[in-house]
Amino acid sequence: EQIEKGGYDHFMLKEIYEQPKAIIDTYRGRMLANEGIIKMAGVDDNMSKFLNADRIIIVACGTSWHAGLVGEYLFEDMARIPVEVEYASEFRYRNPIITPKDVVIAISQSGETADTLAAIKLAKSKGAFVFGVCNVVGSSIARETHAGAYTHAGPEIGVASTKAFTTQITVLSLIALKLAQAKGTLSTSAVNTYLQTMQQIPAQVESLLKIDAQVKEIAAVYKDAKNCLYLGRGFNFPVALEGALKLKEISYIHAEGYPAAEMKHGPIALIDENMPVFVIATSRGHYEKVVSNIQEIKSRSGKIVAVVTEGDETVKEIADHVIEIPDTEEAFSPLLTTIPFQLLSYHIAVMLGKNVDQPRNLAKSVTVE
Ligand code: AGP
Repeated sequence: EQIEKGGYDHFMLKEIYEQPKAIIDTYRGRMLANEGIIKMAGVDDNMSKFLNADRIIIVACGTSWHAGLVGEYLFEDMARIPVEVEYASEFRYRNPIITPKDVVIAISQSGETADTLAAIKLAKSKGAFVFGVCNVVGSSIARETHAGAYTHAGPEIGVASTKAFTTQITVLSLIALKLAQAKGTLSTSAVNTYLQTMQQIPAQVESLLKIDAQVKEIAAVYKDAKNCLYLGRGFNFPVALEGALKLKEISYIHAEGYPAAEMKHGPIALIDENMPVFVIATSRGHYEKVVSNIQEIKSRSGKIVAVVTEGDETVKEIADHVIEIPDTEEAFSPLLTTIPFQLLSYHIAVMLGKNVDQPRNLAKSVTVE
């Protein structure tokens, strides 16, 4: 097992560090950035299904559901296709309206999640075209779907999903761009800019991983918190949910993710000097609004850890800690903003002596309904 961990103390840490390579492996052979070409056989072969779809329904669980939420923003923003994102476990039990004009995208790292598999079978029985985004080759979901795209992240052993999340977002970004190209909802130059920006992501993740020591210091400050709040807007709202889930599952600290603007509709009541609030405030994403949310937290004595774009001066003045990420298109920023939260959860869990790779009560593949 020590050999498999490749010199890292835990699989989770190894998998966090594998993300630059995993993202490259995901888009390798699928994108020719300089020529503006995106090749995905599963999408190419079924393009008419996607183009004629009334809507896309994304079904998934847990972290994969969070990736699906990012997918909703990507598909709607780039390809102008209406998207609904459903917990597979809810979708199947509420007599959903599905027609042959729907495209269902099922996302699953393991490809074995029972609720997602059942949702796929239901969608197929109603005549929908079902596309899978899986990591495990030959898994049940990969076999049960009509077509799909693998994430090629390599084996993910840690129960807390890390590289599966970023590679799922990578695949969804490529699909969204491909559909935008086919529909003409983005100009050729806009697609090319996105593709070239995507190519910079692995190196940016690599450089971001150098903040590990800084994140460890922040982890030491907040490791004894009883509750934490994670806030983000737009593309980074799902990252707030994912940050909270990561902390919950491996450190057993209660955490909630919220869209930043929803704070004033309830969670703001929780804020006091004991409440760490992790806020994503990237420069291109509703920045002014998030800054005012940060001010609201500050005026209630909340502790603020902000994830900001390199060079930010405003938030630095207000927040207790800032973590800088490289600049990128807002649509791809979840690939970067999620990294500090993965590291933070990891370090807190290690400091608290928790079983990082195999947290209590959790299984890597949830094969029961
Ligand atoms: C993620 O950290 C979790 N362990 C869990 O939420 C997981 O994402 C969920 O069970 C879905 O798994 P899948 O992607 O293999 O379908």
